[in-house]
Amino acid sequence: MKFSDFGEHYNGYSGITHLMDDLSEGLAQPGMVMLGGGNPAVIPEVHAVLGRVIEQLRQSGGLLDALSNYDAPQGRAGFLEALADYFRERYGWPISRRNIALTHGSQSSFFILFNSFAGSTRGFQKRILIPLVPEYIGYCDVGLEKGMIVSQEARIQDLEDGFFKYQVDFDQLQADDSVGLICVSRPTNPSGNVLTDDECRQLDGIARARQVPLLIDNAYGTPFPNIIFTEVSPFWNDNCIVCMSLSKLGLPGARTGIVIANEDLIRYFSNMTAITSLAPAGLGAEIVGRLIVEDALQPLCDDIIRPFYHHRSELAVRLLREAIDDPRLRIHKPEGSMFLWLWFEDLGISTTELYERLKQNGLLVVPGKYFFPGQQLVSAHAESCVRMNYAQSESELEKGIAILARELQACWT
Ligand SMILES: Cc1ncc(COP(=O)(O)O)c(C=O)c1O
Repeated sequence: MKFSDFGEHYNGYSGITHLMDDLSEGLAQPGMVMLGGGNPAVIPEVHAVLGRVIEQLRQSGGLLDALSNYDAPQGRAGFLEALADYFRERYGWPISRRNIALTHGSQSSFFILFNSFAGSTRGFQKRILIPLVPEYIGYCDVGLEKGMIVSQEARIQDLEDGFFKYQVDFDQLQADDSVGLICVSRPTNPSGNVLTDDECRQLDGIARARQVPLLIDNAYGTPFPNIIFTEVSPFWNDNCIVCMSLSKLGLPGARTGIVIANEDLIRYFSNMTAITSLAPAGLGAEIVGRLIVEDALQPLCDDIIRPFYHHRSELAVRLLREAIDDPRLRIHKPEGSMFLWLWFEDLGISTTELYERLKQNGLLVVPGKYFFPGQQLVSAHAESCVRMNYAQSESELEKGIAILARELQACWT
């Protein structure tokens, strides 16, 4: 098989492919404790609500309608209208349905956005600037050209009780004229960090000065799924692109992403969707649109989803502290998302090696080095961290943390 340059780009073995392989292998191995992936938790109350709505839609014919018609390239009209009202009423964002487009999930939104604002541009090489790493693994290989991402390592703020927090290192951040787009996730996967309002305002200022958009990946953020434990304000203006998703709400299989941006960009997005895939999927939009109309979406997020993950994060921290009573274990302050980011000081081995040892012993986490898109070298800090998903049951968390504690003890003594 002889691929084009485009084809060769996908013929390699990327970090994300390696992890997906490990995850599916792990799933097939009985007894493996899976604290590696990004699948949302199965929350019975959420399933009950989704099941009820799906049944209502089946009876009313809405389900068949969503499946048996192509929507417009911009997405399901009723849902776009309901969403625009929702954001206008909740946050006063001055938007209409012309500011929203649906996609086949946020990952495909990033593919379009990264390649639309970076890469070869009238003889120049434009780049995506990630102002704070560690960042989401899914950004790493989205750019079609090599070297499309540049990034800045986070500043580390020491907190009490063995916690720390990442901050944007504005003193070091270089936003030169090669930058075509600035991108952050808020809350951040993998660290659970939430950029402060002030950091968002400063990044917005830099983006405006450079006349490039600021992309805020809100996959875990407010108002849905609202897996965020600190009080911060949602951020949008006509220079921002806010990407949302139905995945962490409990519908990853619906493959629905939402892009909120200025009208020109949304028109562009609709053209792109029409050309690459005709129309986005309508099923998730139909289900969540119904929840919005019934005023059932916000209670689902505020009263069920957020408390569920908040309790799980507190439980995971408690179990870790009980099992690993050592100041060399440091935990990023859990402010949102569904992950704990663990930093092991003076480990003696890299977390790439630790990952292999843990896998042999029945635990899957993700080694830190994969979360540094745009860095040329793997730093000592990257090789001292792992990401751990805490969406699993208490007994799985206990089992996994016991394996981790044993392996760390062996390394630290
Ligand atoms: C930060 C972040 N953004 C986006 C996504 C992808 O979302 P989607 O399922 O809508 O493609 C994920 C998935 O894990 C994520 O963690």
